[in-house]
Amino acid sequence: MPKKIVLLPGDGIGPEIVAEARKVLEKVDQLFKLDLSFETDLIGGSALDVHGVPLADSTLDRCRSADAILMGSVGGPKWDHFEPALRPEKGLLRLRYDLGLYANLRPAILYPQLADASTLKREVVAGLDILIVRELTGGIYFGKPRGIRTLENGEREGFNTYVYAEHEIERIGRTAFEMARKRKGKLCSVDKANVLEVTVLWREVMDRLAPEYPDVQLSHMYVDNAAMQLVRAPKQFDVIVTGNMFGDILSDAAAMLTGSIGMLPSAALNKESRGLYEPVHGSAPDIAGQGIANPLATILSASMMLRYSLAQKEAADAIDAAVGRVLDQGYRTADIYSEGMKKVGTAEMGDAVVAALAN
Ligand code: IPM
Ligand code: MG
Repeated sequence: MPKKIVLLPGDGIGPEIVAEARKVLEKVDQLFKLDLSFETDLIGGSALDVHGVPLADSTLDRCRSADAILMGSVGGPKWDHFEPALRPEKGLLRLRYDLGLYANLRPAILYPQLADASTLKREVVAGLDILIVRELTGGIYFGKPRGIRTLENGEREGFNTYVYAEHEIERIGRTAFEMARKRKGKLCSVDKANVLEVTVLWREVMDRLAPEYPDVQLSHMYVDNAAMQLVRAPKQFDVIVTGNMFGDILSDAAAMLTGSIGMLPSAALNKESRGLYEPVHGSAPDIAGQGIANPLATILSASMMLRYSLAQKEAADAIDAAVGRVLDQGYRTADIYSEGMKKVGTAEMGDAVVAALAN
């Protein structure tokens, strides 16, 4: 049976970068005989334009029956004024929620070749290798009640609910402990337990799990301090586990430590390790259609897909190595360019990775 990959290019630079990832997947398919098959569908603004909703039921069904999903990015100014329920982002949120993709892995790795692309000093970030494990289907993103209501005095009030049930905390905690165990054995749980009860419970559950993972050293940190520590001394972290919103924010900060958000892949897994893979960056409407976006985050997301959902470690390693090789060769898209390097566009970068795979 061929492995079914659903491609969801989405909006903005999404189609350009997913096209490059597909080239790379087709190449490893050929080299490693993976028997991959591809189907392409709509999400976000492009789905709104065609179906009037940011994720059609037919797309959801197709994704449900897939072995893995590779997404580009969603959103753009064209749809910014849409009501909250019809924003492009809702398509992505529904996909995450309905497929139960609660475990979001966001590695932030600094490629030695790009140590000078970071806005932080080289010695602060050299060798950086952090994994953020973000809870993705709960917390304030999905808590109810939510909305905007009108009070008796006519003033409007917006409200959301920050809620986590113990089982939600426990399962993401286990993912994080397991990940830490395979790395340097350090896990930092990030919360706001000095103010928010929901994270008092979060901290309690993490502490309760700790004795089951004696090889992992668990610590706790408040989110404001974690934001500060991430830019002050990021190498103190190995694995960070946190809730949906804190993870959203901290993962952007962590991404920038590496110099370019254009380099960072992510995985969102459910309990069977089926998953949705996407770059951490957004749809970058300002550069869409120009052929200059960096496809490496999406290519590396394809590698994570092979590793986590398709159990094809060798093919995944080959992609990671090929990306290292093109960086060694000096290929750089505009976002990671520095003087003396070879400036290339999206497609040339994809072609360079394909060529590096072949040797
Ligand atoms: C992310 C994005 C999404 C999020 C948006 C597009 C809904 O910022 O994946 O980090 O907030 O989760
Ligand atoms: Mg985000």
